Amino acid sequence: MPSSPFNLSGRVALVSGAASGLGRAMSLALAEAGADLMLADINSAGLNRTAEPIGHLGRRAIPVTCDVSDPKQIRAMFAQLDREFGRIDFLGNVAGEAVLAPPEIISLDDVERTWRNLVYGRFCCCQEAGRRMLAAGYGSIVNIGSLASITALGRGHIAYSMAMGAVAQMTRELSTEWAGRGVRVNAILPAQVVNPSLEKRMAADPKLKDKFLSGIPAGRLGHPDDIKGLAVFLASDASSWITGALIPMDGGNLAANAGATIRHQ
Ligand SMILES: NC(=O)c1ccc[n+]([C@@H]2O[C@H](COP(=O)([O-])OP(=O)(O)OC[C@H]3O[C@@H](n4cnc5c(N)ncnc54)[C@H](O)[C@@H]3O)[C@@H](O)[C@H]2O)c1
Repeated sequence: MPSSPFNLSGRVALVSGAASGLGRAMSLALAEAGADLMLADINSAGLNRTAEPIGHLGRRAIPVTCDVSDPKQIRAMFAQLDREFGRIDFLGNVAGEAVLAPPEIISLDDVERTWRNLVYGRFCCCQEAGRRMLAAGYGSIVNIGSLASITALGRGHIAYSMAMGAVAQMTRELSTEWAGRGVRVNAILPAQVVNPSLEKRMAADPKLKDKFLSGIPAGRLGHPDDIKGLAVFLASDASSWITGALIPMDGGNLAANAGATIRHQ
C-alpha cells in the first residue's frame, strides 16, 4: 500500500504552547499522524497532561519548561532537542500572550513585553529550527498569527496587532529566504478560538460572543481541534509546494464583507 503523504512517521516536531489550546491540539494531531515531539510551555503540569496521551499512542513526547520570551531558554531547549532527537522536521510556533490596553494608554513596557512574547519568541525559534533544517535541507515551520496579522480588531489590541503583523511578515520573509533550500514557512491566522482568556472576556462583556458570531459565516466559534487537520497538512509532504501562505482558520470571517448578510441556522 502506498504511504500517505500525510504520514509523519519518523519525523520530529517541536511545538510551543503545547500545554493547552491550539498548541496541545496541534501536538496531539502530529503524534496521531506518527511524529515524535518536544513539547514546550511555561506550564509544566499542562505539558505533562499533553505528553501522557502522546505516550499512549506509542510516540515519544519530551516536555520542556521554556518561556519563549527568553532567547536563552529557547537556545537551551534546542540544545536539548539536539541531544534527545538529533533532528527537527517541524516547528509549531504557538505560544505567547499579549497585553491588551488602548493605544493612548498602553505602556511601552507592555508593548515590548508583547513583542518579546510573540515576535522575538517566534523569530528565535524560527532561527534555531531554521539553522538545523537548512543544514538538513528539509523542514516545515508554522507560525500562529491571527486575523490581527492582517486586519484590525480594536478593543485594546494595538500591541497584539502590531506583533501579529510582524509575524505575517516574518513568515513571508523566511519563506522567501529558505524555500529554495528545502525549508517551508507558513502561518495560520485563527479567528476567535475558545480559550480561557477569550472565555473571560466574553463573560465580562455578554454582547461580545454575539458580536464575534455575527462576523463568522460558519455560525460558531473555533475549537482548538479545528487546527488539527491543517497542522498535519502543513507539517507533511502533502503541502510540499505550499510556503509563505497565510491561511485563515476563521469559519469564513475574513472572506465576509462587513456589510455581508450572514445566515445562521
Ligand atoms: N484563541 C484564539 O482565539 C486565537 C486567535 C488568534 C491567535 N491566537 C494565538 O494563538 C496562540 C495560542 O493561543 P491559544 O488559544 O491556544 O491559547 P491558550 O491560552 O489556550 O494556550 C496558550 C499556551 O501558551 C503558553 N504560554 C503563554 N505564554 C508563554 C510563554 N511566554 N512561553 C511559553 N509558553 C507560553 C500558555 O501556558 C498556554 O499553555 C497565541 O499566540 C494566541 O495569541 C489565538
